[in-house]
Amino acid sequence: MTDPRVIVALDFAAEEAALQFAGRLDPALCRLKVGKELFTAAGPGCVRKLVGMGFDVFLDLKFHDIPNTVAAACKAAARLGVWMLNVHALGGRAMLSAAREALEGVDARPKLIAVTLLTSMGEQDLREVGIADGSQQGVLRLARLAQGCGLDGVVCSAQEAPMLRRELGRRFCLVTPGIRPAEAAGDDQVRVTTPSDAISMGSDYLVIGRPITRSPDPLQALRRINQEISLSGETQ
Ligand code: C5P
Repeated sequence: MTDPRVIVALDFAAEEAALQFAGRLDPALCRLKVGKELFTAAGPGCVRKLVGMGFDVFLDLKFHDIPNTVAAACKAAARLGVWMLNVHALGGRAMLSAAREALEGVDARPKLIAVTLLTSMGEQDLREVGIADGSQQGVLRLARLAQGCGLDGVVCSAQEAPMLRRELGRRFCLVTPGIRPAEAAGDDQVRVTTPSDAISMGSDYLVIGRPITRSPDPLQALRRINQEISLSGETQ
């Protein structure tokens, strides 16, 4: 598999558990996401080790700060050899452009994507922080801003993917969490989509955590998901 669509969320509290788990996976079959929990506990050394094991790593730290600080953080992330990293679109045009420019000329430039609105926020939460035009419009506005600043894509829910694909074109990268294989438990995800549905709705990459990390046979769970995706691709 040359371009695995599944990004396994390595949501572990310590390096040893994360590395041990990654050792049960295969870099040819998935990529990995390191988020705030693992990064805060285990640090950049852990990211380097995962890269050294041959995995493409999505560093999910959602930078949001003044442009100069975010640019420097993006450069530091690129030096770790990550494949993808992200920032908050709400940081605004100057911050997004600074992040993009910081990665100019970097060898094997990481993909830079934006978080639009956190899916944990309801309409009332959004109004409270001054976003009055509703989540759909807000997501599209921020995704357009990210695209206009030269970012490669956004994190979005599968429900938002068809609209973003239509409005922002084929080449804008859509990365989608909240995925559950048909037979799996929903955990605390409210709206879930199956892997094949998410791909047919326009997502490029699927972030999947617990259905793989809590499986008794993670590699088998991953293979099954990849198979579901490739079968759905053949029928499209
Ligand atoms: O275990 P699960 O598949 O729910 O993990 C999903 C991963 O995607 C977690 O790391 C979570 O933080 C992340 N995520 C999410 N929903 C969002 C954005 C990110 O579940 N809207």
